Order: sequence, then C-alpha cells, then structure tokens
Amino acid sequence: MIELNLSWLDACLVLDDRALDGLWTREQWSRELSDPRRLCIGLTNDSAGLLAIACGWLVVDELHITAVATDPDHRRQGHAKSVLGALLQRARQENASHATLDVAAGNTSALALYNLLGFRTAGRREGYYRDGRDALIQWLRLHPPLQSSNN
Ligand SMILES: CC(C)(COP(=O)(O)OP(=O)(O)OC[C@H]1O[C@@H](n2cnc3c(N)ncnc32)[C@H](O)[C@@H]1OP(=O)(O)O)[C@@H](O)C(=O)NCCC(=O)NCCS
Repeated sequence: MIELNLSWLDACLVLDDRALDGLWTREQWSRELSDPRRLCIGLTNDSAGLLAIACGWLVVDELHITAVATDPDHRRQGHAKSVLGALLQRARQENASHATLDVAAGNTSALALYNLLGFRTAGRREGYYRDGRDALIQWLRLHPPLQSSNN
C-alpha cells in the first residue's frame, strides 16, 4: 500500500478508464495527486501495476472521499477494503473527525463495501447523477474509532 504521487498519474488514468468510466481528466488527476490536502492511497503489485485506489480531500475536519475503485480483473479480493481502510487511517492521523462520500443508489457493491467499513446512509440527493439516479450520502465518524453501528 502506498501514498500515490504524480509519478502514478498515467496509472491512475488507466485505472480510472477501466473502473470508473473516465471520472476525471488528466488535469483533475494531476491536482488530486499533487495537492497536499488531498490523499490518495494505492494498492500495487509488480505484474499488474495499480490494482486499487482510494482518494479523498481533507476539508477542515472532514474527509471527503472522491474516488474508490478496483481494477475489474482484481475485484472481490479485499483490495478496496484495504485501500479505503488505509485512507481512513491516514485521515484519522490528520485529525479528521468524519468521512463522507456520495454513492449512486443501486451501486450495491460499493454500498456493501461502505456498510462493511461502518458508513451509514445520512441522506439522499434526488436526481443527483447525470443519468437521473439519486445519490446516497454516506457518513462515518472517525474519532473515536467505530465501536458499533451507533454513529
Ligand atoms: C465497489 C468496488 C470499489 C469494490 O472493490 P473490491 O476490491 O472488489 O471490493 P472488496 O473485495 O474490498 O470488497 C469488500 C467487501 O465489499 C462488499 N462487496 C464488494 N463488491 C461486492 C459485490 N459485487 N457484491 C456484493 N458485495 C460486494 C463485500 O462485503 C466485500 O467483502 P467480501 O468479499 O468478503 O464479501 C469495485 O466494485 C469498483 O471499483 N466498482 C466500480 C467503481 C465504483 O463504483 N466505485 C465506488 C463509487 S462511490
């Protein structure tokens, strides 16, 4: 597990294309990988390169998670759980008290992942995505660390 920097720009673009349908442009990835308030954790291996990423933006005491993805050829091996867990740990070290993100209603794999890590649905943005799907706002308290579903 590593903290990604600009040397991973091309690999992030490839993973974005394969796993996120081209979420961000080269310029947006470049900013993501160079801004000190943005954290980007990657899981790599020697043969396949970048397998999974979790990125977020520290805004005051909140971590706004902006991207979570695993290469389609390497899913259901715990990679997203590992990188997202590492990102949350980094945010704790930076004294973030909460983490939040938006996920499309119906993205069952992502919702299962977030639920597993203790996120709870805190609200809904109707028609938030271009295709008309609603966004479900996910929320996790980071301090003190999660003890139960009571957060
Ligand atoms: C969502 C995504 C990141 C999960 O990546 P992954 O590396 O396969 O996930 P993990 O192997 O770490 O899964 C951890 C847990 O999440 C849940 N989960 C993950 N994928 C799932 C699926 N397809 N169906 C049901 N549960 C799933 C399970 O609880 C899983 O634990 P288990 O395998 O022990 O049952 C991946 O499917 C992906 O890149 N999707 C496209 C991009 C995306 O939708 N990102 C989220 C945007 S908000």
